Amino acid sequence: MFITFEGTDGSGKTSVIKAMVRELEEKGRNGCVLTREPGGNRISEAIRNVILDERFTEMDERTEALLYAAARRQHIVETINPALSAGKLVLCDRFVDSSIVYQGAGRSVGTDEIAEMNRFATDGLTPDLTIFLDIDPELGLERIRKNRQDEVNRLDHEKMSFYQTVHDAYLKLAAGDSRRIVTVDASRPLEEVILEVKGILKKHAPEFFA
Ligand code: TYD
Repeated sequence: MFITFEGTDGSGKTSVIKAMVRELEEKGRNGCVLTREPGGNRISEAIRNVILDERFTEMDERTEALLYAAARRQHIVETINPALSAGKLVLCDRFVDSSIVYQGAGRSVGTDEIAEMNRFATDGLTPDLTIFLDIDPELGLERIRKNRQDEVNRLDHEKMSFYQTVHDAYLKLAAGDSRRIVTVDASRPLEEVILEVKGILKKHAPEFFA
């Protein structure tokens, strides 16, 4: 089973995922792989360094989108597919949806174009379930300002309107694929959000979470 987690910055995504891993550990469930892009392999890490290199100010939006997709491809081949073939549960922090909303909508490359390009990269691999942590981006950034000073500089490079666009695109994705994407109100206290996500995973992946 392949489960992904999505949300705008400051949605609490990382804390929620950590809580799910703790839950699995407490239950003594093995056979779970926690991963995130770029996925820890040499090639994807190298690609990620190119994407994030501040010297490359001339980086074109489509180039960036292609690089994310290339890193994703290698992550799938080296980590995700082998784990799924072995019958493991794969929890992944961000996947194709992130590219659709950040590059497709946020950077205006086009959501359909990004989806199409990623179909080539993933060869059709789609999450069985996606948890979308829904928070007003303004509130998300407020949380980051309070808790994670180190993140503030990077995020302040983007205008608030960028995050609003990304958030709107998430809402549209979720509305268009309500079978796969489950929306969770992430503006509530973290403990409540974690409880709700646990309940969802219990229902969708009982062999691991029940
Ligand atoms: P991430 O490392 O997941 O940060 P966080 O833990 O704060 O969520 O993501 C960093 C940034 O990378 C985030 O702003 C979204 C961006 N991103 C894309 O633009 N496209 C993508 O395909 C992915 C995977 C991430």
